[in-house]
Amino acid sequence: MSKNTEQWSSKLGFILAAAGSAIGLGAIWKLPYVAGTSGGGAFFLIFLLFTVLLGLPLLLAEFTIGRHTQKEAVTAYRTIAPHTKWHWIGRLGIVTSFLLLSFYSVVGGWILIYLFRAFTLNIHGMTPDQFGGMFQETIANPALAIFAHFIFMLLTILVIQMGVSKGIERSSKIMMPALFLLFIVIVVRSLTLDGAMEGVRFFLLPDFSSVTGETVLFALGQAFFSLSLGVSIMVTYSSYLKSKESLPKSATSIVALTIFISILAGLAIFPAVFAFGLEPTEGPPLIFIVLPAVFSSIPFGSVFFILFMALLLFATLTSAFSLLEIIVASITKGDETKRKKAAWIAGLLIFIMGVPSALSYGILADTLFFGLTFFDFLDYLVSNILLPLGALLIAIFVPLKIKKTTLFEELSKGSSIKKVWFNIWYVLLRYIAPVAIIIAFFHVIGFWDYLNRVLFRIF
Ligand code: PFF
Repeated sequence: MSKNTEQWSSKLGFILAAAGSAIGLGAIWKLPYVAGTSGGGAFFLIFLLFTVLLGLPLLLAEFTIGRHTQKEAVTAYRTIAPHTKWHWIGRLGIVTSFLLLSFYSVVGGWILIYLFRAFTLNIHGMTPDQFGGMFQETIANPALAIFAHFIFMLLTILVIQMGVSKGIERSSKIMMPALFLLFIVIVVRSLTLDGAMEGVRFFLLPDFSSVTGETVLFALGQAFFSLSLGVSIMVTYSSYLKSKESLPKSATSIVALTIFISILAGLAIFPAVFAFGLEPTEGPPLIFIVLPAVFSSIPFGSVFFILFMALLLFATLTSAFSLLEIIVASITKGDETKRKKAAWIAGLLIFIMGVPSALSYGILADTLFFGLTFFDFLDYLVSNILLPLGALLIAIFVPLKIKKTTLFEELSKGSSIKKVWFNIWYVLLRYIAPVAIIIAFFHVIGFWDYLNRVLFRIF
């Protein structure tokens, strides 16, 4: 078991890469569509609460494991708890990453197609309905959807086979701020459309009458998805981090950036949805219909559209890199000579796994698993079951297997942490997170519905 030799060349490099993993389709594509189908404001508020009260503590927990051991996911758990089954958390993370990347890359492929389209299409004068039709046509084409998914995976493999710091760190410094800036342009345009306020209300004003057990479960899954939690990616990334960096500060900046981009995404999408008379319940296609429509109403919209798709592609790729990286790191275990082969084999298997998802909006649209298409089924399984399960196990593992004093020391490196904050973190991690996740899980097994029926009969 070699000590990790790769180190981030700067703290900024680590933050940008971890934020790059976090910020991606979760905040920009998934959050708006899940919020749209789950009632809007109330969903978003619960998502924010989960992000701060559970996501941040869990992110810190993953960072602590990684930096403390300086090992990739599976070995990290083995180092802390040798001769036990705890390293299965790492294995679970790898399986989850594998499944997640298989459908993530399909959406990455859609973005590639849209980027290509952005160069060739004159969006001016096109109606939102036409954009809807264009989306359906695009993803229903089996060869195109599979080809685009393949190219996206190919890009991911090529970068990961080059190695961590070289591959990822360099470009994030320019692309992420550029994405933020461009989002602000879209938000300004979206908010100044006629009828935009209704969208702002939908997104920010909570209506709790629409909250169900499902809303809570989805909000929890979304919080973990957006922060890349529960798969031990953040364990692997922080294992490359030097001791002099402050973990709480890094974690807080990543959570703040993720929340910021989530708000920007919501404010970019929902005002436009209502202004254009579209439905917020459009589902996965939502941003692919709404955003081009916003661009078509902006001067130089075509140029902005190209830029936006390019930056969204970048954000999606940095998340995909993290997913493949954790798999590759667990295979190579620090032996860099194996990196190339591992990246190709894992990447190609993920491509194959993704094919049914790529066909889910076309020829497999009617083939259902538990009432869902293959794509939606995988997304449900990963986001609402596997990620929370991984997070639950990490929340149990850290306080159980690492001494409180060691945790305090690890969190105090770089800059000291106040005892109160440490204690709040500890309580949230040890008690609140497991209870909240288990309660949300009750929805999956239908417990709340059952309870409702029983109470209804009694009263
Ligand atoms: N956080 C990424 C996003 O929001 O797009 C997705 C993701 C990446 C989830 C890595 C989980 C993960 F381990």
